Amino acid sequence: MHTSLVARICHARRCSTESRSDSALLPDDDAEKGLELNEQTLSVRLERVAAHVPAEARLADIGSDHAYLPVALIRRGAIEAAVAGEVALTPFHAAERSVRESDLGQRISVRLADGLAAIEAGDAITAISICGMGGERIRDILESGKARLSGQERLILQPNGGEQPLRQWLMDNGYRILCEEVLWENHFAYEIIVAERSGPMMYSAEELYFGPLQMQARNPAFLAKWQRLLRLKQQTLADFAQAKQAVPEEKVQKVARQTQWIIELLA
Ligand SMILES: C[S@@+](CC[C@H](N)C(=O)[O-])C[C@H]1O[C@@H](n2cnc3c(N)ncnc32)[C@H](O)[C@@H]1O
Repeated sequence: MHTSLVARICHARRCSTESRSDSALLPDDDAEKGLELNEQTLSVRLERVAAHVPAEARLADIGSDHAYLPVALIRRGAIEAAVAGEVALTPFHAAERSVRESDLGQRISVRLADGLAAIEAGDAITAISICGMGGERIRDILESGKARLSGQERLILQPNGGEQPLRQWLMDNGYRILCEEVLWENHFAYEIIVAERSGPMMYSAEELYFGPLQMQARNPAFLAKWQRLLRLKQQTLADFAQAKQAVPEEKVQKVARQTQWIIELLA
């Protein structure tokens, strides 16, 4: 049995539903394996991702692993069609097996491809999910696959850390964050970021760090994440002060600035 605490903040009109220190908040890839999850029983995390996929979407799930998300959504009649993209052979075969065993080969195309290269022009994709990997990797997938984005798709992103560089990419590329969510599952904090291209956007450094909507709403799951991170940042600063070899001043300043932002956020 697993517990979760969810804080969801959506842009009401447009959203249909809704260094050492950071790594302690992150799951390893095995974190969900004991839960007997499959295409019928999604993790709380993937259930929340599913809730942001628009009805009748044509979904590209990039880094799909077992293709649990697209298979569950098609079985529920929630989406029209899907592409499950995988770069690695073992999860690609697992995705093929899930789709075959669910008899959904007509609705879900499983493709061995790097990032957005899984998307073909004729797919007419309307939503892209990229979940369960670092924010920097998600950013790199979006950046290198830019040519495959029509600009009409909803992005549903679930980074495991690295949210700040991912939000920076969204801002730099004219995406508006429509919805943000922090959820806890098995003692790990997960974020979901939903965005659509809207034209030029400007977020402050703090908004990119914390999430512009989360910062305003200050829900319990979000505050709990930053309370934990504050303790870790403070420990990191104490470790820097005790370090035998001097830590580069720039690195110390960066952690000190982030710590101060968190203190102000929680004040
Ligand atoms: C931890 S799993 C997450 C699976 C699923 N999306 C989820 O959230 O439960 C990350 C998957 O992303 C795949 N992956 C990583 N980089 C990728 C890329 N550039 N293109 C496609 N798949 C990628 C990995 O092979 C792995 O199967």
